[in-house]
Amino acid sequence: MTTDDLYVAKIRNGTVIDHISPGYALDVLKILGIDGREGHIVSVAMNVSSKKASKKDIVKVENRELKPGEVDKIALIAPGATINIIRDYKVVQKDRVKLPDWIKGIVKCANPSCVSNAGEPVETKFHVERSDPLRLRCYYCVRIMEKPDVLKQF
Ligand code: CTP
Repeated sequence: MTTDDLYVAKIRNGTVIDHISPGYALDVLKILGIDGREGHIVSVAMNVSSKKASKKDIVKVENRELKPGEVDKIALIAPGATINIIRDYKVVQKDRVKLPDWIKGIVKCANPSCVSNAGEPVETKFHVERSDPLRLRCYYCVRIMEKPDVLKQF
């Protein structure tokens, strides 16, 4: 039995997003577009103790798997998160999210004068200078974007 089992019960089928940076569970729910009215059973634990870091958040969504675009967004705000797929109470797949060196098409540049905001068919592109705390640099206008700038867009 792990510490988080004390807070939220095991699920039968669905997805457990574990090792979320403490305090970011509600942002993960927002990324998934979950507000509770879809009818899925959702459990959230915040600031629980963790083996790997001192604290973490956990989100468990029953009968729902994640889309690749959702996983990429979670990697931006919770770079240490693991995505566990649960089938019939067993963890059948466990993947740590990966933040690539370049983020393309997910985040808009906050600089209104950036060429990526000029109505041209230019896909946004940021270099990941640091993952935690997040620091992105726009490939076109070198504007720095940090976690709060990114969160505003999700
Ligand atoms: N979990 C769950 N329901 C299940 C099985 C697992 O909610 N039927 C949750 C566990 O509570 C844990 C996560 O899924 O939060 C991963 O489970 P497991 O791999 O068994 O735990 P750990 O070994 O602690 O994972 P890690 O090594 O990734 O920390």
